[in-house]
Amino acid sequence: MPLIRLDKYISQRSQLTRSQIKALCGRGKITVDGAVVKSSDTKIDPERSVVVADGSRILARSERYILLNKPEGYVSSTDDGDGPSVLELVPEELRTKDLFPAGRLDKDSLGALLITNDGELAHNILSPKRHVSKIYIVKLDRPFQNKYIDIFKNGVELRSGEVCLPVKVKMVENCEKLAFIELSEGKYHQVRRMFAAVDNHVSALMRVSVGGLILPEKLGFGQCMELLHKDVENLEKPLDFDAFCREFSGVFSAILINK
Ligand code: URA
Repeated sequence: MPLIRLDKYISQRSQLTRSQIKALCGRGKITVDGAVVKSSDTKIDPERSVVVADGSRILARSERYILLNKPEGYVSSTDDGDGPSVLELVPEELRTKDLFPAGRLDKDSLGALLITNDGELAHNILSPKRHVSKIYIVKLDRPFQNKYIDIFKNGVELRSGEVCLPVKVKMVENCEKLAFIELSEGKYHQVRRMFAAVDNHVSALMRVSVGGLILPEKLGFGQCMELLHKDVENLEKPLDFDAFCREFSGVFSAILINK
């Protein structure tokens, strides 16, 4: 395992910032394997070192969490079947052998996809029982109709006969062919099939949040960012759908309108 800087190790696993860590080091408040470390750029072994900062043990974790802004044309599986795998977009320095996409986006779909090696977290965010909701913005062939709100709230029946859990949907203000939709289950092609059930057609779809984690505007299609362990805690926090739509409709509709 390559050595990493002490301040990087601690800041990724706690709320402490690098400057706070430097200050704690200066005051002799950080120990590694029992010895006081005065310099925050000291290299440590992230898997073996026992790090204590201001009296608290900073536990080593080997889980990795990567947020990808998925572009079209990539498949959300670990092997190339029907196209290149999203894993090919993970930069070399972030790759480990055990990474997999936590959840699926269709080959044509865009947006937030979590790639991790943490099976437990993946299970938690995918299980409908945990109610980790995902928000999508969709581009429709025909104008949004207000009746969709109640139909989706009551659990729309797909053409296959399957009934969906209640979901929230909202037209993007002044864009009658764009809508936000929030759901916490993940049936195959669910969003596309829900709109098909009300005789509309989704021509573009982008996932813009997973739980409390919002796709950052600065992350371009095909780009990845490593999430800090403290960011991962946000995944299981709920978002307020209406507030989200108000705040982010400008940003995400500008991206989707040209697709
Ligand atoms: N629903 C869909 O139809 N497609 C996706 O990629 C995600 C949700």
